[in-house]
Amino acid sequence: MRVLGIETSCDETGLAIYDSEQGLLAHALYSQIDMHIPYGGVVPELASRDHVRKLLPLTQQVMAEANCQADDIDAICYTAGPGLIGALMVGASTAQALALAWGKPCLGVHHMEGHLLAPMLEETPPEFPFVALLVSGGHTQLIDVQGIGQYELLGESIDDAAGEAFDKAAKMMDLPYPGGPHIARAALQGTPGVYRFPRPMTNRPGLDFSFSGLKTFTLNTVAAFKEANNDTLTDQARADIALAFQDAVVDTLLIKCKRALQQTGRKKLVIAGGVSANEDLRAQLEKTLKGMGGQVYYPRNEFCTDNGAMIAYAGCQRLMAGQSNDNQIKVQPRWPLTELPSLIPVTHKTK
Ligand code: KG4
Ligand code: ZN
Repeated sequence: MRVLGIETSCDETGLAIYDSEQGLLAHALYSQIDMHIPYGGVVPELASRDHVRKLLPLTQQVMAEANCQADDIDAICYTAGPGLIGALMVGASTAQALALAWGKPCLGVHHMEGHLLAPMLEETPPEFPFVALLVSGGHTQLIDVQGIGQYELLGESIDDAAGEAFDKAAKMMDLPYPGGPHIARAALQGTPGVYRFPRPMTNRPGLDFSFSGLKTFTLNTVAAFKEANNDTLTDQARADIALAFQDAVVDTLLIKCKRALQQTGRKKLVIAGGVSANEDLRAQLEKTLKGMGGQVYYPRNEFCTDNGAMIAYAGCQRLMAGQSNDNQIKVQPRWPLTELPSLIPVTHKTK
């Protein structure tokens, strides 16, 4: 089966063609980040309008790259949620229009299921069951995964998502949006031990997270430094604070992942979503899992953040298992992952 995947849930227009026999044939991504930078975050209306501009040219691009005509595509899949309603509507209506014109089935895909299954596109994909840490700009969740659609929520953030905390902390340090990669880069110049941030909710049982306190801690640390230094945050202080912040987030995620693996008895951990691109998080998790006799899996960098390949892959698995939708333009800005129907696993090939 050959699927065209469309991702438009936030500020990235992602297109891809995935073939169940040959793997990923083509993918293209347009990031709107430069357009949103002056506003310090994503402006939903601007995001929707830009998806309108980019969707069809990118569709043509991946079709040409994969050497495909409409007849070579078996189905179209799009992100139906969670995400920004206007942005989702653009992807959904384009997908349904193409499906109608080409006479193909069309399926709405859950964005976080896309992230969760993204490591399946790599050379050595994880086998079920495993624990997944989903860390993006909107979600921080630990999930026990027994198969596609067989998801048990083990814990989640009770306030800000980890990526959101990176973004907000970056803003306080005058670093651009999206904050994660900028904090990670600044942290490389940081001196360990200058600051120590708390590890929220790690000293009590359970697998939930809370990141909003780290935001306040960052604000106070930046303010205290500025007060003592002529209202200026030096590059070195920024680097020291970035390092302390990143250490606190990584350490907190590490402690909870370890706990989730111990609780479930699983040996495999999948990390996915934008924050899984963080090098320090990957390195720390790899070290910890090695010590536990386990293994960490994550997507290549470009598939950690939003992309069309993960949507084409997830949709393809669901369609091959017989799922179809009713050709209605239906999007769900809020949509718990645990509401998805479960599937009998199917074999796939990667490339
Ligand atoms: O998955 P994603 O592209 O979009 C959502 O579904 O939210 O994740 C975006 C988030 C942003 O908050 C961004 O700051 C964060 O991922 N991020 C990172 C890194 N790269 C992206 N956070 C920490 N370190 C990174 N290297
Ligand atoms: Zn995402």
